[in-house]
Amino acid sequence: MQAAVACRLLLLAGALRAALSQQLVSTVNELKDEIYTPLPLGPGHAGDACVRLLHAGGTVGCASPTGWQPTKGPLVRLEALRQPVEYPDSAVYLLPPALLADFLLQCRDSPSLAGRVRGVLSEPGPAPAYSQAAAAPLVDFALYANRSYPWNPAGKGLDGLAFPFPIFLLDEGTAENARRRAAYNLEQHLNGALNHAKMRLTMEAAGNSTACLAARTCLPLGGHSVVAALPALPAPAGNSSNSSSGGGSGGSGSGGSNLPTIWVLAQFDTAGLFHEAAVGAESPVSGLIAMLAAAELLGSADASAAAGQYRERYRRRIVFAALGGEPWGLMGSKRLLWEAASGAASVAGFDLTPGGVAAVLEVGPVGRARPTATAGQRSLSEDEGGVSLYAHTPAGGAAAASDVLAALQAAAVNASAMAGLGVSVAPASAALPGLPPTASAGSFVRVLSGSGTNASSSLPAVLLSDYDAAFQGPTFQSSLYDNSSTVDADSIAAAAVVVARTAHTLALGNGSAAGGAADLTVNYTAVQATVQELMQCLMNATRGLGCPIAEAMMTPVNPGHLSHYIGILRSLTADPQTPDANMKSDYERFLWNWLAFATRPKPPSNSSNGGSSGSAGSGEEELQRCQPLNATACPPGFACAGSRSIKGPEGQGFCLNATVRYVPSYSTSLLCDACDGANTNYEFRWKLTDAAAQWERQHGWPADPVWAESNWPNDTPALTLYLKEDPSVEMALLGAGLAVAGTSVAAALCIRLAYHRKLKRH
Ligand SMILES: *[C@@H]1O[C@H](CO)[C@@H](O)[C@H](O)[C@H]1NC(C)=O
Ligand SMILES: *[C@@H]1O[C@H](CO)[C@@H](O)[C@H](O)[C@H]1NC(C)=O
Ligand SMILES: *[C@@H]1O[C@H](CO)[C@@H](O)[C@H](O)[C@H]1NC(C)=O
Ligand SMILES: *[C@@H]1O[C@H](CO)[C@@H](O)[C@H](O)[C@H]1NC(C)=O
Ligand SMILES: *[C@@H]1O[C@H](CO)[C@@H](O)[C@H](O)[C@H]1NC(C)=O
Ligand SMILES: *[C@@H]1O[C@H](CO)[C@@H](O)[C@H](O)[C@H]1NC(C)=O
Ligand SMILES: *[C@@H]1O[C@H](CO)[C@@H](O)[C@H](O)[C@H]1NC(C)=O
Ligand SMILES: *[C@@H]1O[C@H](CO)[C@@H](O)[C@H](O)[C@H]1NC(C)=O
Ligand SMILES: *[C@@H]1O[C@H](CO)[C@@H](O)[C@H](O)[C@H]1NC(C)=O
Ligand SMILES: *[C@@H]1O[C@H](CO)[C@@H](O)[C@H](O)[C@H]1NC(C)=O
Ligand SMILES: *[C@@H]1O[C@H](CO)[C@@H](O)[C@H](O)[C@H]1NC(C)=O
Ligand SMILES: *[C@@H]1O[C@H](CO)[C@@H](O)[C@H](O)[C@H]1NC(C)=O
Repeated sequence: MQAAVACRLLLLAGALRAALSQQLVSTVNELKDEIYTPLPLGPGHAGDACVRLLHAGGTVGCASPTGWQPTKGPLVRLEALRQPVEYPDSAVYLLPPALLADFLLQCRDSPSLAGRVRGVLSEPGPAPAYSQAAAAPLVDFALYANRSYPWNPAGKGLDGLAFPFPIFLLDEGTAENARRRAAYNLEQHLNGALNHAKMRLTMEAAGNSTACLAARTCLPLGGHSVVAALPALPAPAGNSSNSSSGGGSGGSGSGGSNLPTIWVLAQFDTAGLFHEAAVGAESPVSGLIAMLAAAELLGSADASAAAGQYRERYRRRIVFAALGGEPWGLMGSKRLLWEAASGAASVAGFDLTPGGVAAVLEVGPVGRARPTATAGQRSLSEDEGGVSLYAHTPAGGAAAASDVLAALQAAAVNASAMAGLGVSVAPASAALPGLPPTASAGSFVRVLSGSGTNASSSLPAVLLSDYDAAFQGPTFQSSLYDNSSTVDADSIAAAAVVVARTAHTLALGNGSAAGGAADLTVNYTAVQATVQELMQCLMNATRGLGCPIAEAMMTPVNPGHLSHYIGILRSLTADPQTPDANMKSDYERFLWNWLAFATRPKPPSNSSNGGSSGSAGSGEEELQRCQPLNATACPPGFACAGSRSIKGPEGQGFCLNATVRYVPSYSTSLLCDACDGANTNYEFRWKLTDAAAQWERQHGWPADPVWAESNWPNDTPALTLYLKEDPSVEMALLGAGLAVAGTSVAAALCIRLAYHRKLKRH
């Protein structure tokens, strides 16, 4: 049998040599490569597969129609769309991204076509002009009545569809190979020996998420948000031995600790057809970076300020929140508010009641605030355009937010003077129906302003963004096409300064916006440097957190790949403050450490550089060191940050006087049963609960989507391109059983792809 196979391979190689390449195949490895081309998948590779997700009402994404068997078909490249009846039967279609959306929409509209398609392979470029998300994303979460407003006019709605065939995203090399193979098939008029694609995309879950969670064939989507307070919350009054660790509200009475809070929000993960390939540079990472840079700017301001010690003069506490899971039904902000409402320990000390929250400022996409800067890849310094930002408020909420708006506009005037750019903040068009439903600030408005559909909001809430009437261009949730070349570092840096100055003004809290802001010292050059470093870490998909600033404060598990997909949540730890690599993603741990270093007090110092890089500053020699994963080694109220997987003292962390928390992000309809944190042996522990149902009704939340991701077997997903001969020849060869020493060639058949997902094992 092996011999027959080897023989077939050699015969096929002859055909391939003639048809596919002019060069001679001289080694067994080259021969193998000519015949079998597997798509490399997993961290550090550009290829990816669409997989099946489930929500309470059904499925989206992709699955093999043949269950556990691979799906196969001859390769046909599409250069233009045709009528559904004109596509050949049982083929695997290779197409450029520009055609992908309309071809998939044809499949949606024609079930008979969908039934004849064996698979779809997307070439990686050029970037298409559409967004994979819906034209009105998360519309059920809108706080206004007219649900048809198109915030994402370029949206095609692909990520809400279910496909009965595999869809793969190819890397450049595999795409080139696939094009050659498809061209050969075309020359053969699809007769005789043809190039095929063989795909494995077995998805175990079916139906809907409540059904698959009960059957244990899926796991919930989830992760953690990270929140950090400036100044830090006072240490818990008693000993930390009270393990239940108190209810939701209020720092228990030590002095003037009960400051109202100003929440500065940013989302950090994105969605798309291909989860691991998603970058989300403009949406949402540009806003996240502006928030992280603003946190560092404010956190280090004391050290360089002539006036000194702002945080002692703050009459409101600034809380920076990097929210995880927002593309999935505002999961992160909703969960955070529910944790507070239900008195969970994760947000103990944060007063998330209407009286406790003074304002909410969300930093939305801000990377394309200079229109000219996004047209091409020109050097940023040559750009002339001004930075135009827009302040969105809930319908009827402009009056409540007038202080925030005034502070934003005063901050923009100051940032203009400093950055040498025209920076402006304008209220978003009055014709808009309200906040975009994708805004996390909307969750706060819903819960903290009384009835969710009541237009007269009392919570000051603003979304700062680079768009006015609708998202700009095709970047919203568009997998790899929203990469660092779509955004402009100066737009982000200018937004960071505006956000920092605004939060500072509001924290000083003396009403007159212009007056309060004037004394924050900002080194714009340092902010720019920070933004550029963060862009290197968070927008370069193949480099990931193997970047200097991340490596100085943590050890990434996957240094060559940063996933911008929230992924699955296996379990919860009892103490969410402990950075445990098994429970928190690299991304979440980076955000936690960054915010811990950014918000800790800095010793006043004349030699301060105004704070580039969150860690490794001066004065750290005096800090108490702590064991990795052992927060109890620090004084109460302190965080052990900066520990790394290095043996010896170098790997130890620093005890920082910072309040920084992981707040779980997962469906409010789920509970992790008996997750005591001691058990990191990841058994299935998820159960449905209606504990939040009454709270959800009270605030007019739409039905919880309960997002989950299907399980799949170990060798899935996998894609191999190969030359498959005519069925008649195949039979003859099998009968002949020729003896050829071909073991090493036959070994090629054993190529199996292990696709390493975030701790996903079957
Ligand atoms: C989910 O699937 C189960 C089992 O098929 C079914 O009983 C239930 O009604 C479904 N739920 C929804 C919301 O469709
Ligand atoms: C961004 O995506 C475009 C289109 O796919 C690609 O041409 C470009 O090289 C990418 N840029 C980076 C920095 O990855
Ligand atoms: C709803 O919004 C759409 C798009 O903005 C608009 O065309 C339509 O007239 C609005 N409908 C109502 C009833 O206001
Ligand atoms: C920690 O920071 C808080 C807030 O700035 C401050 O009140 C407290 O005194 C600090 N604790 C120590 C031990 O320095
Ligand atoms: C633990 O909590 C109880 C009840 O809130 C309180 O009476 C007690 O003093 C606390 N103990 C410590 C050590 O803080
Ligand atoms: C905290 O616990 C330690 C040792 O258990 C004890 O000596 C100390 O008095 C306690 N402090 C408070 C404030 O309860
Ligand atoms: C909306 O809020 C206003 C003012 O707070 C109140 O008078 C009105 O009754 C509320 N409407 C609803 C439907 O809750
Ligand atoms: C307002 O802020 C300024 C500058 O920080 C400060 O000097 C002044 O005392 C504040 N006014 C009030 C009423 O707090
Ligand atoms: C901006 O802030 C700086 C530093 O506080 C101050 O010196 C300057 O006058 C401000 N510029 C404007 C235009 O407000
Ligand atoms: C501003 O920051 C840059 C880069 O960190 C530094 O080189 C420069 O000395 C700083 N300028 C001032 C005035 O502190
Ligand atoms: C991304 O990182 C890789 C590896 O460090 C580097 O070669 C590449 O130039 C980076 N891309 C961009 C756009 O900075
Ligand atoms: C954590 O640190 C404390 C105090 O240094 C020590 O007593 C304890 O043994 C440590 N725990 C672990 C698991 O290392």
